[in-house]
Amino acid sequence: MKDIRILVGSVYGGALMTAKAIKQTLDTDGYSVSVLENPVLEDITSNTTPLLVCTSTTGQGEVPGNLLPFYVALREQLPQQPGRPFGVIVLGDSSYGDTFCGAGELMEEALYETAARKVGDTLCIDALETQEPESEALPWVRDWASSIST
Ligand SMILES: Cc1cc2nc3c(=O)[nH]c(=O)nc-3n(C[C@H](O)[C@H](O)[C@H](O)COP(=O)(O)O)c2cc1C
Repeated sequence: MKDIRILVGSVYGGALMTAKAIKQTLDTDGYSVSVLENPVLEDITSNTTPLLVCTSTTGQGEVPGNLLPFYVALREQLPQQPGRPFGVIVLGDSSYGDTFCGAGELMEEALYETAARKVGDTLCIDALETQEPESEALPWVRDWASSIST
């Protein structure tokens, strides 16, 4: 079974909806995807499953409240997971300027500090450009999933 865990950060539901659409698509493709809406550190330390971050950005380039406890615990404890594959999908709005898609950078930095291995380039989805984040996320995630499987 090709397991994938999605760490969701969402304020208004866009990133959560995107994560659910990803689950539907990848499950159909034969993966087994868990969508973690309120992740805790144990969700990742108890296994070596590839991780997909799917988060929006809030405040001034910050991680949404539902993902924040996980992010803080990750930074504080830095459980080492050398080589563990992860990918990043981040929703933002380019009108925020310097903090555009900042939550994705924060999550990426924290995961790099655990020695996890990033697969693919971050997909940054701009709310100014699209009202349907899943239409950008689904083709990207199919490529990403096949990259982690090789
Ligand atoms: C209060 C607030 C602050 C935001 N701050 C940022 C920001 O700093 N950088 C950014 O790229 N987008 C920012 N956004 C845009 C959201 O990330 C974007 O609208 C996203 O699609 C929301 O996804 P969600 O429905 O999962 O929360 C902000 C939106 C709101 C309402």
